[in-house]
Amino acid sequence: MKKKILVTGGTGYIGSHTVVELINEAYETIIIDNLSNSSVDVLDNIEKITGKRPAFFQFDLTNKEELEKFFETNTGIEAIIHFAASKAVGESVEKPLLYYRNNLLSLINLIDCQLKYGVNSICFSSSCTVYGQPDTLPVTEETPRKDAESPYANTKRVNEDILCDSVNAHETLKGISLRYFNPIGAHSSALIGELPLGVPQNLVPFITQTAAGLREQIKVFGNDYNTPDGSAIRDYIHVVDLAKAHVVAIERLLTNKNKSRYEVFNLGTGKGYSVLEIVKGFEKATGVKLNYEIVGRRAGDIEKIWADTSYANRELGWKAETSLEETLLSAWNWEKKIRNII
Ligand code: WQD
Repeated sequence: MKKKILVTGGTGYIGSHTVVELINEAYETIIIDNLSNSSVDVLDNIEKITGKRPAFFQFDLTNKEELEKFFETNTGIEAIIHFAASKAVGESVEKPLLYYRNNLLSLINLIDCQLKYGVNSICFSSSCTVYGQPDTLPVTEETPRKDAESPYANTKRVNEDILCDSVNAHETLKGISLRYFNPIGAHSSALIGELPLGVPQNLVPFITQTAAGLREQIKVFGNDYNTPDGSAIRDYIHVVDLAKAHVVAIERLLTNKNKSRYEVFNLGTGKGYSVLEIVKGFEKATGVKLNYEIVGRRAGDIEKIWADTSYANRELGWKAETSLEETLLSAWNWEKKIRNII
């Protein structure tokens, strides 16, 4: 067995896919999750996919006492991948304190424990949302971050600073912030995937639920943007490609290949697609016709963003490889599986 990795939020969408890829690379994985936005059944499916069941501890990272008890009894952890966070943009506007308390205090408690128990390496789940609407595209890691458009986005930006400042203050620490673009799709087994609670806020789960007949139609939020077809552009990355990047980032830290003790990487495909291109791409990939209606813009949305992935490609030796068609098909296969649609 390779080294022991703590994955916080490991029963979540990106977390579970990353746990699968870590196990595939012979890492021992331990999950802490409060199950506020995921199900414990994910552990069974991770075991079905990999043949191994991660150790699992259910508690909230904002509970410092619980977290210290965990580190007292779970020794030998070599690194942490920190996914656990509240992540709904709209909800964060209504409940900012919930977001600041949960997202910031969780990381602060984790770093405190890293220092106390000697766990030197951490990968933090950040987001391209820290760039806001970039002035120039594609965005590189040097593109200036902009004022956040939501408390959720601000927690990502502030957490990057918390990690960077902590690394600068403590020479035993080393960290990587991974700025995700738009994660979509599901594992090829269709045993794990995105399981939004309630009405999906994100585009692709809303599309797959519409295709499954759970939603009447897709509302396309705006077609008056300054883009070729007027709808907003994003960089959609397959969640398995994203998960694999986390394994590479952890290995970078564990083998001291990091060029500085705090690094940032954009994790995207380098290609932007508009909402209407995603709708059409889904129809082409699946043969399922989608009802959609053009409505007004959604508050807080930016117009267009996609990544310059050259730094991550070069430094991590990692590249997103899954085509959009295959990615959208994987999302549909997952939806059909959970809705028992043949
Ligand atoms: C994508 C595009 C919408 C739904 C956010 C966060 C990011 C990450 C992913 C958490 C936009 C349009 C959407 C719909 C639509 N968060 N859309 N109809 O907003 O780019 O990113 O979620 O992990 O940090 O910022 O993703 O999927 O919500 O929207 O037209 O029903 O699809 O306007 O242009 P977004 P999204």
